[in-house]
Amino acid sequence: MSDVTDFSIGATGDADAQIRYLDGVARLGAQAKDATFVMQGIEANARVLDCGCGVGDDVRAIAARVGEGGEAIGIDASEALIAAAIARGVPANARFLTGSAEALPFPDRSFDAVRAERLLQHVAEPQRAANEMYRVVRPGGSLLAIDQDWQSIIIAGADRSATRKIVDAFVDSLADGWAGRRHREHCVAAGFTQIESRPFVTSLSFAHAYAFVLESAVAAAIRAGALERDEADAWVRGLLAADARGTFFYGVTVFLTIAVR
Ligand SMILES: C[S@@+](CC[C@H](N)C(=O)[O-])C[C@H]1O[C@@H](n2cnc3c(N)ncnc32)[C@H](O)[C@@H]1O
Repeated sequence: MSDVTDFSIGATGDADAQIRYLDGVARLGAQAKDATFVMQGIEANARVLDCGCGVGDDVRAIAARVGEGGEAIGIDASEALIAAAIARGVPANARFLTGSAEALPFPDRSFDAVRAERLLQHVAEPQRAANEMYRVVRPGGSLLAIDQDWQSIIIAGADRSATRKIVDAFVDSLADGWAGRRHREHCVAAGFTQIESRPFVTSLSFAHAYAFVLESAVAAAIRAGALERDEADAWVRGLLAADARGTFFYGVTVFLTIAVR
């Protein structure tokens, strides 16, 4: 079954659906984006790598920020997403390429800053990716990583037992459903210093939570045999009823980590 939240290498998802998913999520997080560039000190003339760049909107924003003396490079394992990124426009000081974060095709110490937004949760060997990001950033340069910790999903308005099964199955369906809480571990092992890993909770309306997370989570639970289809349907009906009463809540903890080489 195709799943818009499965971005692992070799996933057989529908690229157009994944692009709609990425655009939808990006719209929700747009206001906070500039703040992350400032936090990481991305300024004129910087050379910046975005690992797992998806459709490349951040690369274009960074290219505008670093100006003609700088460079923004986006790398992603998905040929379809890199093609979409290129079709959306490649600024003169930007580049997109297909490749794996676990084997970055760049020399040591060649970037001022490296970013990995919602990448590590999809990578089979996240420590290898963290090691590679450490290798390509210069001493004094920084890494910014953002990942949800999917085990921390909070749902109000549904049966407790089914909710636990669905959350567990969703966590286990990802390469690393605990990616958020593991940022610190990966940064320490790679050699980064000054690691600041900040958790914050984001919440979504029922419509957004269902489209971006819960539909996939239910599918993962059914695939894993954790839940029968009618139990899952009853769970969703319960959430819809809670939403109609105004008592539905969805939240998840997101970790934003900045570390220095
Ligand atoms: C959830 S998307 C996030 C895209 C983008 N960073 C954003 O915030 O919109 C995860 C991205 O990581 C890419 N990806 C997954 N595994 C990868 C790997 N091992 N190396 C490089 N990219 C990978 C996927 O193809 C996908 O574009």
